[in-house]
Amino acid sequence: MNDRNAKAGIGLVSAAIFSFLLWLLYLRPDAAGASDRLAWVPAANASFNAACTACLLLGLVAIRRGARALHVCCMLCALLFSACFLVGYVVYHFDHGDTHFAGQGAVRPAYFLLLISHVVLTAAALPMILTTLYYAAGRRFSDHRRIARRTLPLWLYVSVSGILVFAALRAWA
Ligand code: HEM
Repeated sequence: MNDRNAKAGIGLVSAAIFSFLLWLLYLRPDAAGASDRLAWVPAANASFNAACTACLLLGLVAIRRGARALHVCCMLCALLFSACFLVGYVVYHFDHGDTHFAGQGAVRPAYFLLLISHVVLTAAALPMILTTLYYAAGRRFSDHRRIARRTLPLWLYVSVSGILVFAALRAWA
């Protein structure tokens, strides 16, 4: 596959996932009859994000020390945890719809700033993660390294801000 086709594919997959999430959260009519049976899922999702964060940091330390096999293992685990998060997120929001933030005062703009940065940077991170993997899979490690140095901090921000959004909703929902 040439680069142009691969990048078009990555763009399409990313846009499809992101559009689906936006529809799920903001455009779909409110879920009726949401129950408590999935109340544990947001905490599990926050744990997936925490595990992803740990894998990303460990994977970075590994490659800096020249441990390539450990780097690959950590990054693939980070991907797996992010995928688990995505599945949990979709399942939960299918059942519950959007979760409303009830905090008032100064905490409210701070929460929305955090949420908006989380959503916007998730949209940016998705194609970058796939492109980083694409270069690694093709053993194009200098391209991989170049984009990965931007992908990694973005992915870390998305994971950590996901945990903070969960904590804020628990504290003020
Ligand atoms: C999306 C997941 C991945 C991310 C975010 C990522 C991140 C990184 C980063 C940040 C570096 C540069 C470290 C530095 O500053 O020196 C790097 C280097 C490297 N990564 Fe990854 N990586 C990922 C997946 C993979 C995979 C799947 C492989 C193997 C197939 C791999 C193999 C390598 C190698 C060999 C280097 C060293 C490149 C060189 O020094 O020229 N990475 N990666």
